[in-house]
Amino acid sequence: MSSMKLWGGRFAEGPSEIFEQFSNSLRFDKRLIGADIRGSQAFAKALNRVGILTGEECAQLIEAFDGISRDSQEAGFYQDADDEDVHTLVIRKLKHRVGGLADKIHTGRSRNEQVSLDIRLWLRDEIDLARELVRDLMAALVDLAVKYKDAVIPGYTHMRRAQAVLWPHYLLSYFEMFARDDERLADARRRVNVMPLGSGALAGSGFPFDREAIARDLEFDGITRNSMDVSGDRDFALDFLYASSTTLLHLSRLAEDWILYSSEEWGWLELGDQVTSGSSLMPQKKNPDSLELIRGKCGRVFGSFSSLYVTMKGLPMTYNRDMQEDKEPIFDAADQLSGCLKMARNVVETTRLNVARPALAAEESWVVATDLAEALARNGTAFHQGHKIVGRLVLESVQQGKKPSDWTAEELVAFAPEFTAEMIRYMKPEEGMRTRRVVGGTAPESVERALEAAALRLAELRK
Ligand code: ARG
Repeated sequence: MSSMKLWGGRFAEGPSEIFEQFSNSLRFDKRLIGADIRGSQAFAKALNRVGILTGEECAQLIEAFDGISRDSQEAGFYQDADDEDVHTLVIRKLKHRVGGLADKIHTGRSRNEQVSLDIRLWLRDEIDLARELVRDLMAALVDLAVKYKDAVIPGYTHMRRAQAVLWPHYLLSYFEMFARDDERLADARRRVNVMPLGSGALAGSGFPFDREAIARDLEFDGITRNSMDVSGDRDFALDFLYASSTTLLHLSRLAEDWILYSSEEWGWLELGDQVTSGSSLMPQKKNPDSLELIRGKCGRVFGSFSSLYVTMKGLPMTYNRDMQEDKEPIFDAADQLSGCLKMARNVVETTRLNVARPALAAEESWVVATDLAEALARNGTAFHQGHKIVGRLVLESVQQGKKPSDWTAEELVAFAPEFTAEMIRYMKPEEGMRTRRVVGGTAPESVERALEAAALRLAELRK
C-alpha cells in the first residue's frame, strides 16, 4: 500500500503495512460518505466567504462533490480504495476531478472536527428514522389494544398472577415506554444537532469563518461553544446509544412477555406465521424467533453503548485516535434499533389474542383478593384486618380446591361477619377492575380515556 495521505511531509519513512491496515477505518466509515460530502460542500462555501476560494472555484468544487456523490452509488467505487479513512478518500476523488484546486478544501479544517460533523449529520437522519419507527410501533400497539378493547388478563408481579387488568391497559404500558424513548431520541437529537466546524484540530480555526452561516447551510440548530470540547466530545453519540439501549430494553421486555404469552403454557397469543419459524427436526414447532432475536439484539446494543462508554473513559483532552472506535458501535446500534423496531411492529400487526385464555387465567386465580380486601376497607374494616380476612379466605379456598366463583354470598358472610352479601360480586375480576377509575388505572372508563389520549398524542407527534 502506498496510498495518498492527508499528512506525510514530516515523515522520512512511510507507515508499515501492518500499521496501515491496523489503523484503516475506510471499511466502516465509508457509511459517512454522504455526510462527508455534504459537510465539505458547506465548508467550500465557508472558504469562499473568507476569500480562500473564489466564487468560481467554490462552484467547481461543489459540482465535483456532487459528481463524487453520484459515483459513490456505483458498484466498484470503493474497489482498490486503500485510503486511510472516508475523509481521505473523498479528497483523493476530488483531486481526480479538479486537480490542484482540491488541495485548498482542507484549509483551516481538521479531520477531528470533520468526523464530529459527519457523525452528527449521519446520526440526525438515523434518529429521525428511528423516531418514525417508534411511532409506527406505538400506533400498532394502539390498534391491537382497540381490537380487543374489553379483554381481561391477569397482570403479574414476581411472575405471579397479581390483579386483573384490561388488555389495552397492558399494551398502553408499552406505549408509554416507547413514548419516553421517542423523547429520549429527541433529546439526543438536540445535542447532536449542533455544528462543530470552525473548531480546527482543537484550538479553533485560524480563518474567520461565519460559523452560524455554516450551521444554517447544514440545517443545524446552533454552533458548538468550545473548540477543545468539539475535538474530544462524543457525548452526543453516547446520548444516542443510551436512547437506543433503552428502546431496545423495552423491546426486549415486550419480546419476553410475548414469547411466554404465546407459549403452549399460556396460550394467550397466536403469533403470525409471518414472524415465526419451524424446526428442522420437530415438525410441530412454531418458534418465536423474531421475538427471540429482538431480545438477543438488545444485548448487542447494550454492548455498543458500553463499548463507546469505556473507550471514552479517562481519555486525555482532546482528540485521541481511540475515538475512531466510535463508529462501529454507533452504526451497529442504529442498524439494530431500526431493524428491531420494524420487526416488532410486524409482530404486533400479525398477532392475535385468544381472549378466553387470559380471561380464564384471571377467573381461576385469586386476582380478586385485593378487590375483596378493598371492598372491606370501603365498608369500614381497617385495611390490615381486611387483608388478613381475605388471606384466610384464600388459604381455605386453596386447601379445599375452591375458585372464587365457587363461593356463594351466604358462604362468604358465614366465613367472616365483616363481609356483606353484595361483596360476592367482587369474585368476578371485572368488578374490582371497575373500581380502579383513577387516572392511569385500569377501569374501562380510564382505559377508554387513555386510548383516546394516546391516539391524540400520536397524532401530535406525527405532525
Ligand atoms: N479516521 C479518524 C477518526 O475517525 C479521523 C480523524 C483522524 N484524526 C487524526 N488526528 N488522526 O477518528
